[in-house]
Amino acid sequence: NKDKIILGIETSCDETAVAIVRNGREIVSNVVASQIESHKRFGGVVPEIASRHHVEQITLVLEEAFDQAGMGWDDIDAIAVTEGPGLVGALLVGVNTAKALAFAKSKPLVGVHHIAGHIYANRLESEFTFPLLALIVSGGHTELVLMRGHGDYQVIGETRDDAAGEAYDKVARMLELPYPGGPHIDRLAASGEETIEFPRAWLEEGSYDFSFSGLKSSVINKIHNAKQRGEILKKEDIAASFQSSVVEVLTEKTFRAAEEFQVKQVIVAGGVAANQGLRRALEQKFSGTGTPLMIPPLKLCTDNAAMIAAAGTISYEKGNTAGLDLNASASLLL
Ligand code: KG4
Ligand code: ZN
Repeated sequence: NKDKIILGIETSCDETAVAIVRNGREIVSNVVASQIESHKRFGGVVPEIASRHHVEQITLVLEEAFDQAGMGWDDIDAIAVTEGPGLVGALLVGVNTAKALAFAKSKPLVGVHHIAGHIYANRLESEFTFPLLALIVSGGHTELVLMRGHGDYQVIGETRDDAAGEAYDKVARMLELPYPGGPHIDRLAASGEETIEFPRAWLEEGSYDFSFSGLKSSVINKIHNAKQRGEILKKEDIAASFQSSVVEVLTEKTFRAAEEFQVKQVIVAGGVAANQGLRRALEQKFSGTGTPLMIPPLKLCTDNAAMIAAAGTISYEKGNTAGLDLNASASLLL
């Protein structure tokens, strides 16, 4: 049985990434070119700029991934690419690159859902045990996904408005912190105190859905009302109080779902998985329960192509390949 070597390509947002992964488990090379510096002064990702950067970077990043791996095209079994969701102009750069390469090098092509990628980032660290519950928290997503086997995704809860990372970035903006704001709020929260009471959106009894827009409005109101009274709230305290609300709801709902579905493993994925407060709260909640909790190392939490190659390996093994009519889809469902 020969090793399966998959080339992964990810361009759904503001990172141009290419990686090579062996058997869905082992990173051979993993190259990420971030555009954050170019978007910072606009306070968010500008789609046009993102697409243009991807076009400029993709060939270089691809070459670097082969160089670091010490491999050539003969070693590659298939090409996996993020087909969605994401910014359509950004996705198209990756999808068209993957299609051109699949055609030119006669390699099978595999389309990958970005969130499946975030989930499979965990498998680069340790093997999955099913049934498994995944909490996905990123700039664009907040979802609880139940998996009963490889490639089998059942969304049991999702955000009804803002994603967790989006809420972090919006609150960071109110506090005049640089983009992306999540890590800054995380850092401030560590030295702040929970002096401000913010709401927790539990929603209906038994619901695994999330909502963060009410919390965001509450932050605006508290800052505004304090100003009217001539008070200034400490940024650290706003950060700590806001983070506590987000973390409590995420942790509690994840815990309840893990119990209800009797899962054998809980994994966390997406950029907000880098959050120190969330990591600590989840670790505490699940310690001693006998349900192992996996949170990927920081480097694999944020967008990269190794996770796309890892998820793509499963589709490839299942014979789930795409034709050259593969298209980018901004709102692809899991
Ligand atoms: O997964 P990701 O890199 O991109 C998307 O697919 O969205 O996630 C980016 C998001 C941003 O909203 C960023 O602010 C957030 O993850 N983030 C954090 C932290 N690090 C990144 N949020 C809270 N705490 C952090 N330490
Ligand atoms: Zn992502």
